[in-house]
Amino acid sequence: MNISDNTPEPQARIEIDSRVFNPFSPDFIRHPRETWQRLLREYPIAWHKELQMWIVNSHELCDKLLKNNQFTPSYRAWEFAPPEKSESEKNDFDRTFDHSLFVVSARDHLKLRKLTMPAFSKPVMGKIDAKIRDLVVECFDAIGDVAEFDVYEAIASKLPVRAIARMVGVPLGMEDFFHDFSVQVVKATRVNLSAKEREEAVQGTLPGLAYFKRTIAERRVAVHPGDDFIGSLVAASDGNDRLDDYDIMSIVLALITAGSDTATDLHTYAIHGLLSNPDQYRLLQQRPELMESAIIELLRWGSFGKVPFFRFATADAVVGGQLIKKGQAIGVNVSAAWHDPQKYQDWDRLDIQRNLAGNIVFGAGAHFCIGTFLVRVQGGLMISEFIKRFPNAELANGDGDLDYDYKHHNARRIVRLRVNTNRKAQQRAA
Ligand code: HEM
Repeated sequence: MNISDNTPEPQARIEIDSRVFNPFSPDFIRHPRETWQRLLREYPIAWHKELQMWIVNSHELCDKLLKNNQFTPSYRAWEFAPPEKSESEKNDFDRTFDHSLFVVSARDHLKLRKLTMPAFSKPVMGKIDAKIRDLVVECFDAIGDVAEFDVYEAIASKLPVRAIARMVGVPLGMEDFFHDFSVQVVKATRVNLSAKEREEAVQGTLPGLAYFKRTIAERRVAVHPGDDFIGSLVAASDGNDRLDDYDIMSIVLALITAGSDTATDLHTYAIHGLLSNPDQYRLLQQRPELMESAIIELLRWGSFGKVPFFRFATADAVVGGQLIKKGQAIGVNVSAAWHDPQKYQDWDRLDIQRNLAGNIVFGAGAHFCIGTFLVRVQGGLMISEFIKRFPNAELANGDGDLDYDYKHHNARRIVRLRVNTNRKAQQRAA
């Protein structure tokens, strides 16, 4: 298979190492743009000797790879995949994981996506919108009338998990329980853990999974399963196809793993992007109808992901002139791709009116992001409320006293972003 039309025959392998691309180095985390540009210029695709995987950087190749089912996100296709546990060794976490969107076959994945569609329909999502609106207002009420505050502490670390709890219908009194469950779920699916740490995290997920199993069982025997998110999943059918308990729990897990970390970064990077580009902040205040494209552009411009998305080759393939062998791992480096000058003129400018046609900010192909609605609602509500309350806000001390969690497993996670609200000046002027 050849997904680069110009080079039918594979060329000699192009290799890089951590001197060219080290996603974990503090320097890269603070200033990634130079590295992305070098990768785009010199290495649209290359074998990373230390990471033992292909790194694909150009927008064109990332787009093609994501759209090609021959490259699967399932680690089971990896040449170094650990042996599967036997059925008797598996617990509910393992069984749920087996049903995950990132693990099942392409055919089962299609079935899962089809059956989950009603749960993401307008009527169900409309109800979630109202619940998240309250949450956002509560969050800003708690910030109050201060001169300065930290966006990570006050917003980004608080909203996302609670928003997902509302989305999956966890009762208010159980939000702390859900939060602890989410922490263990995210931990249990990380790659860089010792066997002991992973086992502890897996055990930590079991009470939460037991809660969802009970909830699903109750809905199954109820006269009507309910018109909320879980109810829609229980009721979903397509011919004889239905979602079983592990399918439904795997969707909840997917929302937690793919939706809580990303949404945390969405909040800090959105505010950082807007306040470090005051012309765009003002433009959004004047033209709120630009909100949807502003969110995508802020995600593109900020690019918080440091570790590329994983794919594994299910057959030999020539990509950009390089021979990828069956079983090899591939890092689809979308953060670099989102800064590709071949795709985006003035790639380094935040422009909320930019033409974003063909963007891959939420991926592409079969695994296209399932959470775009929540991103739009949560991000849009948060930014609108921020604008309403702090129209004259600026980054404190010029850069918001910006700091990162340099050990975060996959993101350039901002853990401090101080904002000067300029509320007093606003009140004096009023
Ligand atoms: C905040 C910004 C977000 C960004 C930039 C983002 C981006 C992406 C991207 C690029 C993919 C494709 C990954 C791949 O192909 O390997 C993806 C998949 C996914 N996203 Fe998001 N996402 C965001 C938020 C969310 C949220 C809030 C949720 C959940 C509520 C979510 C749920 C998912 C799920 C479940 C998948 C996997 C879909 C599948 O495999 O079929 N995402 N996302």
